[in-house]
This record gives sequence, structure tokens and C-alpha cells, in this order.
Amino acid sequence: MKQNFLYSIIILFIVIFTITIDAQNKSNKYTIVIHGGAGGFSKNSPDSLKELYLNSLKEALKIGQDILKNGGTSLDAVEKVINYLEDNHLFNAGKGAVFTTDGRHELDASIMNGKDLSNGAVAGVTIIKNPISLARLVMEKTNNVLFAGRGADELGIKLGVEIVPNSYFHTDEQYLDFLKGSVKKYSGETVGCVAIDNYGNIVAGTSTGGRNYKIPGRIGDSPIIGAGNYADNNTCGVSATGIGELFIKHTVAYNVSALMKFKGYTLKQACEEMIYKVLPDNAGGIIAVDKDGNYEMVFNTTAMFRGVANSNGVFEVAIWK
Ligand code: GLY
Repeated sequence: MKQNFLYSIIILFIVIFTITIDAQNKSNKYTIVIHGGAGGFSKNSPDSLKELYLNSLKEALKIGQDILKNGGTSLDAVEKVINYLEDNHLFNAGKGAVFTTDGRHELDASIMNGKDLSNGAVAGVTIIKNPISLARLVMEKTNNVLFAGRGADELGIKLGVEIVPNSYFHTDEQYLDFLKGSVKKYSGETVGCVAIDNYGNIVAGTSTGGRNYKIPGRIGDSPIIGAGNYADNNTCGVSATGIGELFIKHTVAYNVSALMKFKGYTLKQACEEMIYKVLPDNAGGIIAVDKDGNYEMVFNTTAMFRGVANSNGVFEVAIWK
């Protein structure tokens, strides 16, 4: 009897201790930003099309916000938001990806966890329905960071992600652009998400079909950690969209973090330096969140599909400046 009482007291202590530690680690603060690509989307587009994009951005944002609001992780929020955008034919990632010159689809994606700088990426995959989910498995289940082409597709089969025929990614809209047969200056609609959760962990993810009419085997910035994607809990998380070659050349995502870390820039100063001063006009844009939950969505193109939500009640989506 006496022993049972003692056990009960010990268990009660453990429960109180666990709840206290949990409460200390949790700030009930979150911020999430998303993009659906930067480019030349015209203000004269039909209202019905604008509505489709804005509603899709709202839907994506809500998926992430619900996860974060309920104490979920930024890792889950970023993956699930990008899954939605990959499955949405309006965007150039997953279903709706652009065509290569040989009429196929090759997809790239990466994800990075700012908690420990772990990351995973896939490039040139052809049968993976949701490349961001395979990138996450690369990060969590392998000792490597980047898989490309056939090996990446085979890894996806081995790790049990959803497999689809290459024709699954086809949409008539992208096929019409393919028939025009030229690399557009920037076709846009790469997707990305950056979030900080209640526990102060920043995660960034990016997924894309690349550039319209790209040469088979061409890889852009989206699966290149430091170029199209980066996250560090000590500074910020960044996801890019634009002409991949320029974002690789200028190591854009890492440089935003580096300007904060080594030069003491604010998130705003660092993002504006890279987009307005380092990159040429019409190169693209970035979304970013810093360790205090501040956010930026900066672009030097006509438009960038984007959205932000946070624990202070902000919930906004936009296309133009
Ligand atoms: N930013 C996407 C790409 O260039 O592939």
C-alpha cells in the first residue's frame, strides 16, 4: 500500500516535469511563407485564373498553418504544403511540370532542417509523384544528401514513395508551351515553403519541374542546397524561384543566411541585397523566415505567387507587388 503510494507520487512528479519542460520548449509562435513561382504572370489574365491561383495559395497556406497551430513541426508543414502544390496542376512542380526538349518531365526538389543543417535532395526524377517527400527520405533515411536520375527513381521505389508513369505529370497548358518549342525567359511556378514552428525549428523546401524546354539532364537551383534552398536555426530559412543558373551562380539562399550571420544584416536587408543588388532584373524571387519569425517575400520579376501566415493573425496571399 505504502509502496503503491510512493510509485504514484513518483509518476506524478515525472508527469509534472515533462509538462513543464514541454511548455518551456514551446513558444506557441509560428510563421509560414509559401511561393508558387516568380515570373511574368500578367495582370490582364482572366479573373477566373487569378482566383484559381489565389484560392490554391490559400489552401496550401491553410494546410501548413493547421499543422503549426496544433503544435506540429515545420518539417511536416513544409512537406505537406509542398505535396499539395505538387499535386496542383497550376504549378510547375509534380503534376503540371514543364516539358524537356524530348517531351518528358524531370523533377527536382530539396528540403533542409535548420535544427542540425541536415538536408536531402533529388534531381531529374521521372516517376516520383511527390519529389519533396523523397527528398525528405533522403535526409532522414540515408547517409547521403543528393540523388539524381535513375538512381533517385530507384531509391524512391525502394523507400516506398508513390510511383507514377511519366505521363502523369502532363498537362495540356504545359504541352502548349512545349509545342512553341523555346525556353521562356522564366516560366515560373516552382513551389516552395519555409516555416518556423513552436519549437524554433526552421525548415525550407523547394520543388520544381525546372525550366520549360530544358535539355534532358539539366538541373536547376531547386535541389542545390545553398542555391535554391537553405535553412539554419541561427539565422533563417530561404526558398528561391527563378532562373536556376543565376541562383546557383550567386549561391543566393546561403548568402542570405551568410549576410545575417557574418555581416549582421536583418532578414529584410539580406533578402533585398541578393534580389535587388546581386541578381539581374527578372531573375526571380525568394521567400524567407528568420529565427524570430520575421518574414520576407522579395522578387525582381513582374509577379510572384506567394502567401504568409503567422501566430499573430496574419494570413495573406498575393501575386503582384
Ligand atoms: N528555379 C527552377 C529552375 O531553374 O530549375
